[in-house]
Amino acid sequence: LQALAARTRPDFKIGAAVALGPLTSDEDYARNLVSNFGSVTAENAMKPQFLSPQQGVYTFEEADAILAIAESKGMAVHGHTIAFTEAMPRWMQELPSGTDAERQSSATALLDYVTTVVTHFKGRLDSLDVVNEPFDVDQGTSFQQNIWYRVFGPGYPAVVSKAVYDADPDVLQFINENGADVPGRRQDALLKLALDTNGLGGHIYGVGLQAHVYDLKTDAISAGDLTDTLNNFENAGLHVRISENDVTDGRGTGAQAKQYATVLATCLRSRACVSYTTWGVDDRYDWLIDDNGRLQQGHDFLFDDGQPTPAYDEMRRA
Ligand code: XIL
Repeated sequence: LQALAARTRPDFKIGAAVALGPLTSDEDYARNLVSNFGSVTAENAMKPQFLSPQQGVYTFEEADAILAIAESKGMAVHGHTIAFTEAMPRWMQELPSGTDAERQSSATALLDYVTTVVTHFKGRLDSLDVVNEPFDVDQGTSFQQNIWYRVFGPGYPAVVSKAVYDADPDVLQFINENGADVPGRRQDALLKLALDTNGLGGHIYGVGLQAHVYDLKTDAISAGDLTDTLNNFENAGLHVRISENDVTDGRGTGAQAKQYATVLATCLRSRACVSYTTWGVDDRYDWLIDDNGRLQQGHDFLFDDGQPTPAYDEMRRA
């Protein structure tokens, strides 16, 4: 897939979210990854809850192992993620923010985290989600009131962005969000947030559009809507990564394959769209598998038990 995309877009990256377990234990997975993808995102290993289980304590081993494998295969690495409500260690969530003095000491702790992590990875990440899922989970347009918000206020993305820039000025910075893949209020809010952040001195290069399609009946992404979306961001001077695309149903009918190919083809035809990442490699390790080991809905990915799915073939034609 990467080689095909590079024929028309030499700098374009096709990526996948990966976990260290299958990468080191499953030959099919590793082979399918390396022969099709030019970029990886650690599915979990670079999230704050995994990088810093206790304040001042850092566990970089797993992230570093993924980085080393990617580098040995000449793959780019996207960092995911700094400020993310859902993936914070307890110490971070519980930093006090009631008084000025508390906010000041918590600000120091949060910025220490940013500087330590970004300095650790300096020069090795091509791009980074400085903020992930800033807005309310109910598809709203106001900020989740997490510790970053409570300590730094509504300008927190700019604070994080500047701290990231100070530690690594070369990493391309993104704000990543779900539900903003098609035009509408949520997309407007994301676009405005990226511009406002830069207005406050931030260094946002673009936005990540997650493009999770859980139900083709309600969340299918059409070529027209995605083209309009990419134009909206391009007109604002922003770049776009399709950051976590997966399609949870429609394998049997061929609809899944078509949806995958539509998203990739539309992205490839837009100058503003700089990369495409799918949120996994093989259904064996699907993040939507429930506690009983069953897929919650259908089958997600481009490979299933090591074999290409119809979506893979359709993507090759995109
Ligand atoms: C998911 C991982 O895939 C799971 O393994 C983990 O248990 C929860 O997080 N949006 C994001 C990702 O930005 O970080 C999420 O990843 C999927 C939804």
